[in-house]
Amino acid sequence: MLLSPRWISFLIAVLITFITVAFLNFVPDVSQPMLFVVGISAFISSFLLIYYIIDLLVFQEVNSIYLSLRKLKIKDFDIPRKSLIKSVNPLKKLNREISNYVSKKEEEIDTLRRMETFRREFIADVSHDLKTPIFAAQGFIHTLLDGAIEDPEVSHKFLHKAARSLDGLEMLVKDILILTQVESGDIRMQIEKVNIVEVIRDIFDQLEDKAGKRHIALVLKPKAIKSMKVRADRTRISQVLTNLITNGIIYGKNEGKVTVELSLESRKVRIRVSDNGIGIAPEHLPRIFERFYRVDKSRSRAVGGTGLGLAIVKHILNAHNTSIDVTSKPDHGTTFSFTLPQAAEDFSS
Ligand SMILES: Nc1ncnc2c1ncn2[C@@H]1O[C@H](COP(=O)(O)OP(=O)(O)OP(=O)(O)O)[C@@H](O)[C@H]1O
Ligand SMILES: [Mg+2]
Repeated sequence: MLLSPRWISFLIAVLITFITVAFLNFVPDVSQPMLFVVGISAFISSFLLIYYIIDLLVFQEVNSIYLSLRKLKIKDFDIPRKSLIKSVNPLKKLNREISNYVSKKEEEIDTLRRMETFRREFIADVSHDLKTPIFAAQGFIHTLLDGAIEDPEVSHKFLHKAARSLDGLEMLVKDILILTQVESGDIRMQIEKVNIVEVIRDIFDQLEDKAGKRHIALVLKPKAIKSMKVRADRTRISQVLTNLITNGIIYGKNEGKVTVELSLESRKVRIRVSDNGIGIAPEHLPRIFERFYRVDKSRSRAVGGTGLGLAIVKHILNAHNTSIDVTSKPDHGTTFSFTLPQAAEDFSS
């Protein structure tokens, strides 16, 4: 209010009127009506002149700045012209808007830079991981072509190895595709009522052989549970559990066990997947959900891991509006846990 052009013009006009009238007062033969007329005309003319100058210098300039900003088509610049013109201090308002705009743009540039670095790293990781199985398969096939094919035993062994490398390649490409789709939100979760016990038992059946090879027992708790309904995307949650249970088997101890435990927690079902395997050192824990992150690269590579499993798990659970927790003790084991909304109260065991 104090800095409005009208007030400024008024105060200066009053000052000019006061000085003029005061000086005229000392001039002999000046009558009271004359002083009054001079005072009024001094006030009106100086008020109008000053008001016009301020308006011309401030408001019209502000207006033209505003128009140039509009020409730049700055979508984020969202003060309406009317409010600016009516504003008591348009320069201050404009300044504030421009600084807001600048910080918004700075944030955008930062995000773009981060994404650029991330993309570069992602491409480097992907190429590296694609290269390994391709070179291996290529090596076996060339050896076969160079003559090894004549020996049935060797040729069978090499073909088998080449096929394994290509299987690994297929797995990697599938994982990358899933991850990019889930991350970019291309896959919509089809939330439905899912009997999680059924899903877990199916996964146990599929992973039985893998676990059997290392004499690892797959255990569901509570033991005799038949049904526990959650709201989730069946295929995606099955993928989450498959990844976690597979990790439990791969990084578990020979003759150990992988336990999936279900419990109720105020209208939510908590699912814990734990193993008594090699565990994860605390310094690695915050990073294991990053794509391509492997604690022990050589060991993980040897067992066929690409380091994408947990990144996929994290993104699928995020799409279910939940998150995953992990606790681990090196040489003792690891527990992953998350919750899903309960679909119906039927904890039958
Ligand atoms: N249960 C576990 N016990 C010990 N370490 C684990 C466990 N689960 C994951 N890790 C560590 O975290 C890393 C990342 O796991 P993630 O599942 O993302 O990748 P991966 O198993 O190496 O490959 P894949 O993409 O085939 O799953 C693993 O390489 C391993 O070092
Ligand atoms: Mg894994």
